[in-house]
Amino acid sequence: MAVKRFSLTIFLLAFVLSVGASIASAETVEDLYRFHCAQCHGVKGMGDGPNATKEMPVSPRDHTSAVEMNKLTDSDIINAITDGGTATSKSSLMPPYGKTLSKAEITSLKDYLRKLCNCKGKGK
Ligand code: HEC
Repeated sequence: MAVKRFSLTIFLLAFVLSVGASIASAETVEDLYRFHCAQCHGVKGMGDGPNATKEMPVSPRDHTSAVEMNKLTDSDIINAITDGGTATSKSSLMPPYGKTLSKAEITSLKDYLRKLCNCKGKGK
């Protein structure tokens, strides 16, 4: 009896894990952005997420602004996402994601931001 219950637990656990894994692999860069960034930067990246209130001393970057985003190189963007605002001498309100997201995810977010601003960045 106890053995049966144990294998049922294993079965359920395996099921939960496989569902979890398939959700993770179905994650698109839009999902990543909506989950991690949109609360400040806004769903469309315009810097108007629900956390971007007037009390915030600096507003989150408007990722759709080519003028703003052209001030940054691709590595500036990657550094800002990996190590947070302080890495690019910006506000610490921009959190670091180097421990939460993989390098590949951060690079794909950088590409996504370049799509949003429709710009290539400084020096290009
Ligand atoms: C808690 C709010 C918050 C979250 C969440 C957030 N940001 Fe930011 N972000 C900011 C603020 C505020 C700034 C502006 C910093 C400044 O100009 O000093 C910023 C600036 C930036 C910049 C520009 C940095 C620079 O050097 O000009 C990039 C790129 C960026 N964020 C990307 C992201 C990405 C990608 C995510 C999600 C993985 C994200 N942010 C999540 C608040 C946030």
